[in-house]
Amino acid sequence: MKILVATQKPFSAAAVAGIKEIVTAAGHTFAALEKYEDAEALKAAAADADALIIRSDKVTADVIAAAPALKIVVRAGAGYDNVDLAAASARGIVVMNTPGQNANAVAELAIAMMIFMSRGQFTPATGSEIMGKTVGIQAFGNVGRLVGKKAEALGMKVKAIDPFIPEDKIREAGAEPAATLEDLYAGCDFVSIHIPATPQTVGSIGYDLITKMPKGACLVNTARKEVIDEAGLEKALEERPDLKYVTDVAPGGYEALREKFGTRIFATPKKMGAQTAEANLNAGLAAARQIVDFFATGNTRFQVNK
Ligand code: 3PG
Repeated sequence: MKILVATQKPFSAAAVAGIKEIVTAAGHTFAALEKYEDAEALKAAAADADALIIRSDKVTADVIAAAPALKIVVRAGAGYDNVDLAAASARGIVVMNTPGQNANAVAELAIAMMIFMSRGQFTPATGSEIMGKTVGIQAFGNVGRLVGKKAEALGMKVKAIDPFIPEDKIREAGAEPAATLEDLYAGCDFVSIHIPATPQTVGSIGYDLITKMPKGACLVNTARKEVIDEAGLEKALEERPDLKYVTDVAPGGYEALREKFGTRIFATPKKMGAQTAEANLNAGLAAARQIVDFFATGNTRFQVNK
């Protein structure tokens, strides 16, 4: 089988070498397409691929149609909103993710962002400390839990909400469950977002929620750009000169927002939450192993389009 690693934002060289080793040791053919220009390049490279390993690369219906031999796509990472699941399912293609494999990297970035914003983006102005503050975790999955643990270790109070996790489980993990999303926003100095982008969540965080936050609060988004109602966010930042927004996923018109709001807003130049040597290895090797196992035994654990 031909297994293609297609990554516009490449893995580390060590991760690519590790993937190649796993794939070839199992008797498969390895190929890589990195830093490619556009969908046409991806379509051409995928034309004879049996399996794809991707990151945030867009696997559209068009890409799927251009890959007649494709049997499995593994998103090396958590969010799979970049894969057209319906088009994949219609062709019987298995789509998987590698849950948890890059969670620590993203959680560390969320904590770093809280400190960065509390210290005026490392300008000499008097900042504040995160110890003693309250962080609200919106979605208590692999990343959210780790943010909670790290925040607790730094002396923060941790609240959380997750529509799919019962309150007792949230309590067991050391966080205080919030009764409603509104309560979470109203009761936290920081809210750290960890929801996926789905039809239900896109545009779901806007003016009403953001303006519920207490004085001086900061919204931290290491999830997806799409979950924010950006017009609502801008209005909230305009009306409330105490609020802050930090994100790993730049909003539209970021340069203008930065001019308008200065150090109250910050976006990374390129999505970098999962961009560590460790996360690249964890997620990349997990993806390779999942594909090899799928071809050897038919194992579909981690399939997301069942
Ligand atoms: C994820 O969903 O796993 C993260 O957003 C990481 O995305 P990336 O692999 O494109 O960095």
